[in-house]
Amino acid sequence: MKSTKEIEKEYKVTRQTLHNWINEGLISTPRKDWRGWFEWDNRNELEIKDLMKVKEDLYNPSVQEIPAEKLKIFNRRYLGSKQKMLDFIYNTVVNNTTGIYTVADIFGGTGSVAEIFRSKGKRIIINDILHSNFISYLTWFGSDEVDYSKIKKYINELNSLESKEDNYVSLNFGDKYFSMENARKIGVIRERIEEYTDLNEREKAFLITSLIYAMDKVANTVGHYDAYRHKMDSLKPIQLRVPELYHNLDNEIYCDDANELVRRIKADLVYIDTPYNSRQYGDAYHLLENIVDWNKPDLTGIAMKMVNRQHIKSDYSTKKAPTVFDDLIQHIDAKYILVSYNNMAKKGDGRSNAKISNEEIITSLEKRGEVTIFETPFQTFTTGKTNIEDHKELLYLCKIHSIKRKTGNIKKTVLKNNYIKSAINYTGGKHKLLPQLHPLFPKDYENFIDIFSGGANVGINANPKEKIYLNDTESHIIELYKLLSTTAYDEVIYKVNDLIYRYKLSNTKKFGYEFYGLNSADGLGKYNKEGFLKLRNDYNKGVYDNDKLKPIVFYVLIVYAFNNQVRFNSKGEYNLPVGKRDFNVNMEKKLHDFHKALQEKDFVFSSKDFREFTQIGENDFVYLDPPYLISTASYNENGGWTEKDELELLGFLDELNKKGIRWALSNVSLHKGKENTLLLNWSEKYDTHTLDYHYNNSNYQSTAKNNITQEVLITNYKID
Ligand SMILES: C[S@@+](CC[C@H](N)C(=O)[O-])C[C@H]1O[C@@H](n2cnc3c(N)ncnc32)[C@H](O)[C@@H]1O
Repeated sequence: MKSTKEIEKEYKVTRQTLHNWINEGLISTPRKDWRGWFEWDNRNELEIKDLMKVKEDLYNPSVQEIPAEKLKIFNRRYLGSKQKMLDFIYNTVVNNTTGIYTVADIFGGTGSVAEIFRSKGKRIIINDILHSNFISYLTWFGSDEVDYSKIKKYINELNSLESKEDNYVSLNFGDKYFSMENARKIGVIRERIEEYTDLNEREKAFLITSLIYAMDKVANTVGHYDAYRHKMDSLKPIQLRVPELYHNLDNEIYCDDANELVRRIKADLVYIDTPYNSRQYGDAYHLLENIVDWNKPDLTGIAMKMVNRQHIKSDYSTKKAPTVFDDLIQHIDAKYILVSYNNMAKKGDGRSNAKISNEEIITSLEKRGEVTIFETPFQTFTTGKTNIEDHKELLYLCKIHSIKRKTGNIKKTVLKNNYIKSAINYTGGKHKLLPQLHPLFPKDYENFIDIFSGGANVGINANPKEKIYLNDTESHIIELYKLLSTTAYDEVIYKVNDLIYRYKLSNTKKFGYEFYGLNSADGLGKYNKEGFLKLRNDYNKGVYDNDKLKPIVFYVLIVYAFNNQVRFNSKGEYNLPVGKRDFNVNMEKKLHDFHKALQEKDFVFSSKDFREFTQIGENDFVYLDPPYLISTASYNENGGWTEKDELELLGFLDELNKKGIRWALSNVSLHKGKENTLLLNWSEKYDTHTLDYHYNNSNYQSTAKNNITQEVLITNYKID
């Protein structure tokens, strides 16, 4: 433990800075001693170190010049990049707005403006019409898990590729944009990236981003591909670098026309940095688009541009600019809009002249709210009072008068075929089946009653007029849902992190696998075993019985347990061994989204036997996903699900049917060669829908029919 004074001295920061960091949520609040003074522990120190590293990378321009080991978002040239004015933009926002959590950068370019906000912990929505920019956003802002050692291995391999033969890149761009050697190498590298079969979307983006950034470093250009220099003077060999890995949570990434996109998104601040003049970005970066898409299209002209570039043409570089700008502004759903505009060139017809005038920007913004204009370096003046024709970089901040709320927000998320995932991996979880189940459910009902809710994948995504009932005899899980529905996310996450820290469990989200001397394939079991067993023991011995957050302890146990499963022995003790994974980005995202849904909708929680559901209303809809008689799962081990239970359940459903209550029953009719004849015979009175899902994909691919599991949904109503 260290005192604040010791921390000030060691890290050369003032007490005030430390307080600011705590207030901005950049580091956690340390615990206090009996006098109320902060005690800084190892975790607090690690947070300070992490933060200082991010700040150093962002603000020390010399760091960007030196080819640092890792590739950074800023290591590229781009027309109109706002890199030099990030402080101006950030300070304008910090000093003149409140309540900014989500920032949308909808003409993202390099993504540098979004990055400054991402690095401060904001949630990011980022977009650009160019696919080459979108790919780099997956790298910098994506949340898919990345096997970093695999990326390093592949980048090494790509760097060592050699080619003496010509290919698409060398034939078209060799001795023009690149030396012949570099062009050949770019061609073989790009081809090889296509050949890797074990990459997820983000991992592939890491490799392509690394390539397009490396191309920029050796291109025989002035920073864009509208033309190449006549004299070939960029002969240094191309060298790919490993992009920095950021662990993001729930950013949104798009490659769309900004005018289309704003109709679908919602943010606290929307930042707008359109092209200013008639130079099309699709022309300036055609070569990157070509390499990224890798369709090897026909090319034209001296500059060797793709013949078809219609899809990347922007209205903002044409005389339509003022009209599309106005349409954009009028359709934004946000608290604030911030517009960057370079007003140096007067509006007119010349190629470098601005397409939108200062007056047009103000007129469009003033329809939405109060506008303030900021000029570097930080002089502020209000609309219309000053002549600003000569100023260079301007920021127009519009505080929107009345927030246009989109209606039916929850419904929209749910229907998007983008179903919320359970925070826990429950055996037999129905998440994958939801796109098939939902169309089979009635459209209109009062309450949704999920009697065997398990992981709650189905219940959480329901859209009843009234309430969602989540019931399961596994009461630990129901207690967890109940707690999540009433506890602030910050409190939940604080408890999770606190347990991880106190039981010395791994935190790869923050430190990566290498920190623990382990890799993703072998998993983290070796490191976590001791802490996990201690936590399991404390939980089973009742150490947390008086803790109102006890369900969170249970959650952390599941996260670090074998396959994230739930299993109790006959003495009621949680008895699974340690697993391979930890509270990684995926788990955190699932917890976050699940928690949000639990807070937004109206739930009733219970842990009853299905036979106790005697009060179901005639306009309610009952969904049932009971244990399956012919396949076992861990929840079926104690007490089990017997033929008697099955018969009584079928009788229960017949009774509901008589009362005209609609229900849908999930089950398996066939499993490993066994048929559930009891169920199949009974189901003939109703409608049976077969679903396409194999519980065990790998088995299914490798073996015979014997391993097929046939999922069915039996219903007693006509599908709408
Ligand atoms: C001035 S640059 C943005 C620079 C960026 N702020 C940066 O710091 O790198 C404008 C960007 O808008 C993109 N763009 C042009 N028209 C667009 C449209 N209709 N929708 C979305 N993006 C568009 C261009 O591809 C270009 O990357």
